[in-house]
Amino acid sequence: MKPVILVVGARPNFMKIAPIQKELDKRKIPNILLHTGQHYDDNMSKVFFDDLKMKKPDIYLGVGSGSHAKQTAKVMVEFENVCNEHDPSMVVVVGDVNSTLACSLVSAKLNIKCAHVEAGLRSFDRDMPEEINRIVTDSISDILLTPSSDGDENLLKEGIPESKIFMIGNVMIDSLFSNLEAVKSKDISAKFGLEKDYALITLHRPSNVDEKETFERIISAIEDISGNIQFVFPMHPRTRKMAVKFDLFERLQSIEGMNITEPAGYLDFIALMSKSKLVLTDSGGLQEETTALGIPCITIRENTERPVTITEGTNQLVGTDRDKIVKIGKETLEGNGKSGRIPKFWDGKTAQRIVDVLLENVD
Ligand code: UD1
Repeated sequence: MKPVILVVGARPNFMKIAPIQKELDKRKIPNILLHTGQHYDDNMSKVFFDDLKMKKPDIYLGVGSGSHAKQTAKVMVEFENVCNEHDPSMVVVVGDVNSTLACSLVSAKLNIKCAHVEAGLRSFDRDMPEEINRIVTDSISDILLTPSSDGDENLLKEGIPESKIFMIGNVMIDSLFSNLEAVKSKDISAKFGLEKDYALITLHRPSNVDEKETFERIISAIEDISGNIQFVFPMHPRTRKMAVKFDLFERLQSIEGMNITEPAGYLDFIALMSKSKLVLTDSGGLQEETTALGIPCITIRENTERPVTITEGTNQLVGTDRDKIVKIGKETLEGNGKSGRIPKFWDGKTAQRIVDVLLENVD
């Protein structure tokens, strides 16, 4: 069998590809791990390979940062060469980052089958670069692997034939569940200076951090929630850059109980999340991981492409409304956080179902 190319590019991709590669290896299916280099800092990339016990990428494109057009175009040019050289049986892309879009486009043009893991998610907000990536990737991929049935519905509404759609569950939860036991004994309190209950914060969406007024409103809400609680805020490089630019970094740092850190590795992060009282975030993945862990999550966004985390899980969408963030934040910390259940097929066995589907559909 010709090899399957597995594509990773940015931080949220690694924990989705790791279980798929392990399953392919287990079944002795030849595969090539390709890293585009969209994320390149050690703490945004290498630490995840170490923590997830992934093999080093077989191919590294080293594209780095740039405007959307430049980053996408660079990946496309390099990835086309790779496909011509390695003649894969199939390309597997995950999520909604620029690398996902670039590699699915190249595969489609070269008539190579492309499987999209995490297909069908829609925020219905085309201002988000990820939404454009999702729509285009889904429209040109051959195998659409959805994490929840809302994904199937969205794809069917867009006219995608049912025969291409497979609801297999959430593969990121495979990584979460398989590493959870190992982090239980991790002493994160000492490492992160934690002495009492804490909330975990992550923010990096351009809509939240690239505009001073919005970023400031969110900071003001966190100030209001502070008092009897500590905060751990592993900061994305984009967020740090913007906080410094807007002169907000020191204000954030001086919030009572605030601990701003470098981006955390995978194991430290899931340890932090699993022991937190509350997660405040604008990430997509965290909305899902908190639902799987039963930890209350407040999502600082106007919309979500992961509605199942609200209808079934622990997630609450509050937008950037200062008062809403404070109200729900305080309620949660007083013990009245939202509870939920784990959605169907978020069971740690999604990679097995994915590989079953890939094998049924490979030429
Ligand atoms: C990307 C994804 C986003 C995902 C996020 C997770 C797209 C369109 N966006 O956003 O969906 O949620 O990753 O982190 O693909 N930078 C570094 N070191 C790195 C990588 C980036 O310092 O290793 C800095 C650079 O200044 C860069 C900026 O972060 O310009 C943004 O990086 P980029 O890859 O363009 O997008 P993210 O905001 O990380």
